[in-house]
Amino acid sequence: MKGKEEIIPEKEPQRQYYFIEMARKLREEKEREIKRPLTFHVTTFGCQMNARDSEKLEGILKAIGYTYEEKEEEADLVLFNTCTIRDNADQKVYGRLGYLHGKNHYRKDRIIALCGCMMQEVTAVEKIKKSYSFVNIIFGTHNVYKLAELLCIQAAQGNMVIDILDGTDLIVEDIPNSRKYPFKSGINIMYGCNNFCTYCIVPYVRGRERSRPSKDIIREIERLAEDGVREIMLLGQNVNSYGKGIKDELSFSKLLKEAERVEGIERIRFMTSHPKDLSDELIEVMRDSDKICRHIHLPLQSGSDKILKRMNRSYTRQQYIDLALKIRREIPDIAITTDIIVGFPGETKEDVDDTLDVMEKVRYDGAFTFIYSKRSNTPAATMPDQVTKEQNRVQFDRVLKKVQEISKEMAQKRTGNIEKVLVEEISDHDAGFVSGRLSSNLVVHFEGSESLIGQIVDVRLDECRNFYYIGKRV
Ligand code: 5AD
Ligand code: SF4
Repeated sequence: MKGKEEIIPEKEPQRQYYFIEMARKLREEKEREIKRPLTFHVTTFGCQMNARDSEKLEGILKAIGYTYEEKEEEADLVLFNTCTIRDNADQKVYGRLGYLHGKNHYRKDRIIALCGCMMQEVTAVEKIKKSYSFVNIIFGTHNVYKLAELLCIQAAQGNMVIDILDGTDLIVEDIPNSRKYPFKSGINIMYGCNNFCTYCIVPYVRGRERSRPSKDIIREIERLAEDGVREIMLLGQNVNSYGKGIKDELSFSKLLKEAERVEGIERIRFMTSHPKDLSDELIEVMRDSDKICRHIHLPLQSGSDKILKRMNRSYTRQQYIDLALKIRREIPDIAITTDIIVGFPGETKEDVDDTLDVMEKVRYDGAFTFIYSKRSNTPAATMPDQVTKEQNRVQFDRVLKKVQEISKEMAQKRTGNIEKVLVEEISDHDAGFVSGRLSSNLVVHFEGSESLIGQIVDVRLDECRNFYYIGKRV
């Protein structure tokens, strides 16, 4: 009689649980052979979305039974979750690959897997196939959940396994995940981006906007709260367009209101807001909420109308200023942070003057400044008047100086305040101190012990050291 044949489930997530079990057996076999546990290391590049994906990847590896190894080069399985927003992100990955394969760190039996945004670029994958052929697994942004399956295929075939989808409508829920902090968590509310800012590669590598059903999001928040999470961060490339185009779905502000109702959640953050569609309703919901943090990240990119138009940002400098000042008027204690790009094609000193002028008016609590990086196949890559390195350096320094001057002044305003801090970790500088964040996202260090981690406590902000505070628990 024939033995019972095993059937691989077609439906997700059952299929992945099947492969997790299979990968588990393979790991156990290998461990018996080498007489020690197999280890993994995940290195994450880029944004909060990638950080969240890495928690899922680590969750899968832990479910398979791999042991975490602190040192990347010592691990049996190294996974790079890559970013490709700027060229230097790509270069870092090539650098790490070279390092791992170099004569001091080479190991024949090490598995190297690459995933994330950079893998969605055909040219990057071609380069890896040609020059880094020792890589074992390549997958993209649309199939993070498939890691266990890909590990099993790689074990069976032995060669480089590549699995990249151009896009997907599938959102796979309920895959294991391993949170970095027990008391806070990111939650994807939507994937992809439809904005096509002319410099940006994200719409090409993350695909079109897809919102998760609000009931799934709320259920996830409820589960996290039951599991001890107190702060959540709702994640999407443009959270303001959450639910758009889906029949009977909540708007982003309504979703926030629902999230607020979840008992146990004490702080709600979100990232990122596009200025073009930030509604008055959202400002009101934030203003009237005790849980939504006093922080909004509102990327400006440029303060020049000419450049904004070329960037396809869909707002003018005046519309942006009006919006930011409205937010400040309605929510006086809010921190506003931003992203600024210097050196977009055609940008002159006068355009940068306009950017500095918006900064003066909005008075940012913090800003990330980037030098424009040409991304292949984006419209800006072929625009005339690409800016020289030398001009970029001069203009970048002007912007950075202004950022530092204003954010220092904004931070100092809080001196003497007593504010709530969610304690995150033992301070890097002093083991007798802990570090945490204000609702505004500013970091505070104060004397305290490990037992405070995960708690929200009142701290007096005594000494402002430019971008962080030294405080005292009261
Ligand atoms: N060059 C420089 N900065 C970029 N960003 C996105 N694409 C590029 C690029 N090609 C910046 C934007 C965005 C942030 C996440 O990265 O400021 O808001
Ligand atoms: Fe890129 Fe613009 Fe989408 Fe942000 S909104 S991810 S900058 S295309």
